[in-house]
Amino acid sequence: MKNPDESINWSEVRARSARESQRKQVKMLKEGNQMADAPLPLHKSVYIDEERFQAEREHIFLSQPLVACLSGDIANTGDTILFEAAGPSILVTRGKDGTARAFLNMCTHRGAKLVEEAEPWSGVKNRFTCPFHAWTFDGTGRLIGQPGKEGFEKCAIGGRNLIELPCTEHIGLVFVKANPDADEIDAEAFLGDYADVLAQLELWRAEPVKKGVLTADSNWKFALDTYGESYHFSTLHKSTIANTNYTDKQVFERFGPHHRIEFPKLSTGDLIDKDESEWPETIYGGVHFLFPNTGIFFGAVAENVFFTQVFRLFPDGVGKTRCQFAVYAPFGVESDAHRDSCIAAYDATATVVQDEDYRVASNGYANLMSASKDYHVVLGANEMALHTVHQNIAKTIGMPLEQE
Ligand code: FES
Ligand SMILES: [Fe+2]
Repeated sequence: MKNPDESINWSEVRARSARESQRKQVKMLKEGNQMADAPLPLHKSVYIDEERFQAEREHIFLSQPLVACLSGDIANTGDTILFEAAGPSILVTRGKDGTARAFLNMCTHRGAKLVEEAEPWSGVKNRFTCPFHAWTFDGTGRLIGQPGKEGFEKCAIGGRNLIELPCTEHIGLVFVKANPDADEIDAEAFLGDYADVLAQLELWRAEPVKKGVLTADSNWKFALDTYGESYHFSTLHKSTIANTNYTDKQVFERFGPHHRIEFPKLSTGDLIDKDESEWPETIYGGVHFLFPNTGIFFGAVAENVFFTQVFRLFPDGVGKTRCQFAVYAPFGVESDAHRDSCIAAYDATATVVQDEDYRVASNGYANLMSASKDYHVVLGANEMALHTVHQNIAKTIGMPLEQE
């Protein structure tokens, strides 16, 4: 996979960033939490309105660059994944030339699916043969086999290649736009300064370990809201996250529509009265949010045992969320024990998210559906990451947050 700069020692970069982040956390713990200027009331229609949802489908899920997978999910020639959550069924595949490409999973003869499995399917395919009449396409989408070819002569669309979608690979992320008519993806412009933050994760080295789907009976944004604040740690996650991390304390940094949040460990509080020279080494971590729907957590399961978790939230209709959740070994799987710890990290996190975060999201969503016409939820000034996500989504779909 492509390392953007071979001359950089990324572990040193992470160590520097971790120290800088530690300073910001200590300062915040001393001086008080970051706050938005005011709380943000949101009318329930932001989550339940069908028209708004259709605008999100069109302007976000069918128009924005979305993370289809990491480079390591299609590490070798022919490696292919199915990406269906944004709407159309899409194949993302690595060709012989090493390039990642995305195609509609749709035969150009009569529309059959070339790969009939369901997401999160992955496999090795150097060619795609349609199960209907056996038209065959290579990894670059070219039609290379067409039984009864003479039946399609003298017709402009009698022998088309696969329909390609905008796709680009950048710092270990494979971006796709789920619309063949959309403009090409300019990943550098899309990420801006955030690329330097994400590069530290060395995502191009990440090796997939375990993947699955988490579901919530709620609008995708209502589920997404559970990732952006630590206000709920000591109540909802009292026996898990609250044992290690502060509640309602975070360092929040914006990078255009993207952001990074660090939720300080309780042990960081010990540093407040110590000189920096006495601070212990710390590791880089944090929640990295990539607009519009992706969260990347980087951290250690145990001393020097790292893992990367990727959450991608998609709507499955206005009131359902499907989260594609995957855990990676950040620098490759080092041993069976390392693989086992990454699997354990997947299982533990999936349980917390599914049984705790998505439980309250689903229950709350049922309440929204039956709440009075003018019901608003309110995002506190202490929940500022949520404000920016909602504001950016509203801006992208061209619909203000307050409609009533
Ligand atoms: S639909 Fe694919 S070959 Fe006919
Ligand atoms: Fe949570």
